[in-house]
Amino acid sequence: MSALRSLPELPDVVTATPKPTVYIETYGCQMNVADSELMYGKLVAHGYAPVDAPDGADVILVNTCAIRENAETRVIGRLGELRRFMKPDTIVGVTGCMAQRLGARVLDQARHVSLVVGPDGYRALPALLDGARRGEKFTATDFDIEEHYEDVVARRFEGVKAWIPVQRGCDYRCTYCIVPFTRGPERSRKLADVVREVQQVVEQGLSEVVLLGQTVNSYHDGAHDFADLLRAVGTVDGIRRVRYTSPHPNDFSDRVIEAMATTPTVCEHVHLPMQSGSTSMLKRMLRRYSREDYLECVARMRAAIPGLALTTDIIVGFPGETDEEFEDTLSLCREVRFDDAFMFKFSAREGTPATRMPPEWTIPDDVVATRFDRLVRTVRGISRENNLGRLGETMELLIEKVARDGELLQGRSRDFKTVMVPADAARIGEYLTVTLTGTTGATFTGTPVTERRERAPLPMMGA
Ligand code: 5AD
Ligand code: SF4
Repeated sequence: MSALRSLPELPDVVTATPKPTVYIETYGCQMNVADSELMYGKLVAHGYAPVDAPDGADVILVNTCAIRENAETRVIGRLGELRRFMKPDTIVGVTGCMAQRLGARVLDQARHVSLVVGPDGYRALPALLDGARRGEKFTATDFDIEEHYEDVVARRFEGVKAWIPVQRGCDYRCTYCIVPFTRGPERSRKLADVVREVQQVVEQGLSEVVLLGQTVNSYHDGAHDFADLLRAVGTVDGIRRVRYTSPHPNDFSDRVIEAMATTPTVCEHVHLPMQSGSTSMLKRMLRRYSREDYLECVARMRAAIPGLALTTDIIVGFPGETDEEFEDTLSLCREVRFDDAFMFKFSAREGTPATRMPPEWTIPDDVVATRFDRLVRTVRGISRENNLGRLGETMELLIEKVARDGELLQGRSRDFKTVMVPADAARIGEYLTVTLTGTTGATFTGTPVTERRERAPLPMMGA
């Protein structure tokens, strides 16, 4: 994920001394985006002013990802680059998963960094920054399984939808994955706290929420499961679209699928990480399901939710991957016909069980590259065929932003299709009904079919 670009304008407050400014650059997943919003919220409450560029900021925080080696290499490069934006008294901090993983090693590698703070340490940021101003250096990487930042009001910058963390950490132990080490054990927020936040989001004029968790459908707050949460969030007045990411195939109980199918605001899209299509490989990955279990899960969901779009994550080149196992991954893609997939080359992460597998299991780079290429072509081919079959359909979009070409607007359908439409930028944040007129294979172009403006319904006073 790239750095966040725009920030809401600050209210005009006349103060005797200018507020210290803070710039946060975010890498990695949506959970990191949500965490950056929390950090901004925490720091704004302590008198900081957010800015949208590092140039001359009093505090620069880099919120990092550790999932693959290249995510960390990018951050190390960026930390070097950031030096040129620093004033003599600028404080640079590294937060997030890479901070948690490397701890004090970051301070040794990048001398201009004063703070290293893991995902459970953001509450202490104002105090740590005060200390750093006095010349001290800090590493804060303890886990806190009670921490949900419940009293921190997130400062959101995404214009049209809200990221809502509902669960932190992960109790699975997939053998390739660093997340359980960087984000600690799984814990869920109380349902009532999530609902309250969703109500606040509606009051701010947003109508789409994305519930976030590492294995979000294993959500359980002691009294309520994910089915209860979907129903509760999905029936908040003014909410029009509910999404969630990322679920684990093993946590799709019939209750959860039923809640999804019967709550009209829950969108017809599931991002269902598959990782591999081979049962023996899934076993080595410790995914705790077989190819057949995965297919059965897909079948149950498709039977309950007509028009369900499915996307996935796939890893290529995990230790010991045989030709047959890789072919199984390709064949599962053909069988499920995913709408889209994020595909990754396996990256060995220090401390994970995969690094202790026999060295002769390592797949040579050229084999990984060839397999990766075949996988990408297979997935893209299927998604192109799927998309060509959708031309002429009419669907509702939430207009999200100006498209990259600068002319068209970009919107999302309920089933997660990206559609470019000619419309005035004033329509960002509105729902627009369009007919799909073209596809690049991956994204669509569409034409509005109605001139009737539809804003998300705002909550009625006293309702
Ligand atoms: N190497 C490659 N991909 C990985 N993922 C997680 N860990 C690794 C790794 N070590 C992928 C998985 C996961 C997604 C977020 O990142 O596919 O679902
Ligand atoms: Fe990582 Fe597996 Fe947990 Fe997902 S479920 S965060 S892949 S350990």
